[in-house]
Amino acid sequence: MSPIGMSPRRIARPHRIGGVALEPEERVFLMYGSANRDEAHFPAADRFDITRDASKSIAFGAGPHFCPGAAASRTLIAEVALPLAFERLPGLALDDARPTRFGGWAFRGPLELHAIWRGG
Ligand code: HEM
Repeated sequence: MSPIGMSPRRIARPHRIGGVALEPEERVFLMYGSANRDEAHFPAADRFDITRDASKSIAFGAGPHFCPGAAASRTLIAEVALPLAFERLPGLALDDARPTRFGGWAFRGPLELHAIWRGG
């Protein structure tokens, strides 16, 4: 799931991609959410699989505009915030009765995420 779903670009020079001709000054949107579900790179792309090799994900972009905050974000979220929350709040759990809803396409994320407290 890409928190940034798309990014706009201005075409600088004539180019052809996927049978589509792009001309200078035209605008295009790069759809990260679509690329991250490309079956050529991610088998059963719609299935959540925490063990899958996500190294080809472009959730932080690619090329010269690759997100300079990627390392800080990955570290803060995956190595600090979430491990601390899971360690200190063992009773915190998702409420299976009320599924998480995701929304947005330029900025995409949970619209509501219901949690329950199991004590502990
Ligand atoms: C989960 C958190 C984040 C996500 C998903 C994310 C995602 C992205 C993506 C997809 C791009 C590429 C945009 C493009 O190519 O048009 C980008 C660029 C950028 N990001 Fe992030 N980002 C995150 C956090 C951060 C943080 C924490 C910072 C700063 C401390 C940051 C600063 C930037 C900057 C300055 C660019 C523009 C780079 C350029 O155009 O050369 N980002 N980000």
